[in-house]
Amino acid sequence: MAAPATSVVVLDRGNNTTCTVNLHGATVVSWRVNNQEQLFVSKQAIFDGKRAIRGGIPIVFPQFGAWSTGPQHGFARICRWELKKPPERLPTGDVEAMFQLLDNEFTRSMWNYPFSLTYRLILREKELHFNISVYNPGAETLSFTFLLHTYFKVPDVRRCQITGMRGCTYIDKTREGAMYQEHRDVVTINEWTDRIYQNTPLEHIITNVVSGRKMRMQKYNLVDTVVWNPWVEKAKEIPDFGEEEFPNLVCVEAGHVSSPVILPPGTVFEVMCVCGWS
Ligand code: BG6
Repeated sequence: MAAPATSVVVLDRGNNTTCTVNLHGATVVSWRVNNQEQLFVSKQAIFDGKRAIRGGIPIVFPQFGAWSTGPQHGFARICRWELKKPPERLPTGDVEAMFQLLDNEFTRSMWNYPFSLTYRLILREKELHFNISVYNPGAETLSFTFLLHTYFKVPDVRRCQITGMRGCTYIDKTREGAMYQEHRDVVTINEWTDRIYQNTPLEHIITNVVSGRKMRMQKYNLVDTVVWNPWVEKAKEIPDFGEEEFPNLVCVEAGHVSSPVILPPGTVFEVMCVCGWS
């Protein structure tokens, strides 16, 4: 009998610095720096190879939010990805791996286009580096949205501050999509929060993450930043999330979501995102 295909890939940099990727969605489900977990995964997360994993870093593609022809946040987070290149140590000591998702019968049933979605993940001493590309091999122009749904683990979300949003307009999904402008130097979270900040800068700092540290998120070609925490009431509506867990996460998500990416035939959309200790 053939051995079951491995569904988890571990990048190990030594010093208890590791990153674990579940091929279901190519979801990063753990990122440990010196044995300290940096990402939130719900105690109630379901690993059935069907539903999206509640936590870590799922990839949202080709649709952010509700979708008329497929599930919320698209199919990339619920497809099994290929391990294109197994973990390999680089001369710098960093470890890299590559993952790929190609269109298939399942994706075609929701979105009838050819595509190649590839991501290169590099685990550095105190950083996680994503290089992601979407290639359009077809004859028609593609239109899609994209986002890295990063769940950072925090001791208490009420004590976190997020920099970089001052002056940005945002769509408030908790207020029927009304638009506002952010006047604060730092964003804090004290209630159900679901905002799409537009034209955000290349860098955000989140304070008071694990061990009181600062987390830096840098992004390239990802023009929007979503900030989300369900708080207690909304948490009750999410079956794979414990209602007492909301203080322990902050989602600060780099994306291209408030307008679609338009990708002509034969071209590539490339993005980068780096998360790391500041
Ligand atoms: C956020 C969205 O990115 O993801 C929220 O802005 C959504 O509206 C949240 O509720 C979680 O989505 P899901 O599909 O994983 O429950």
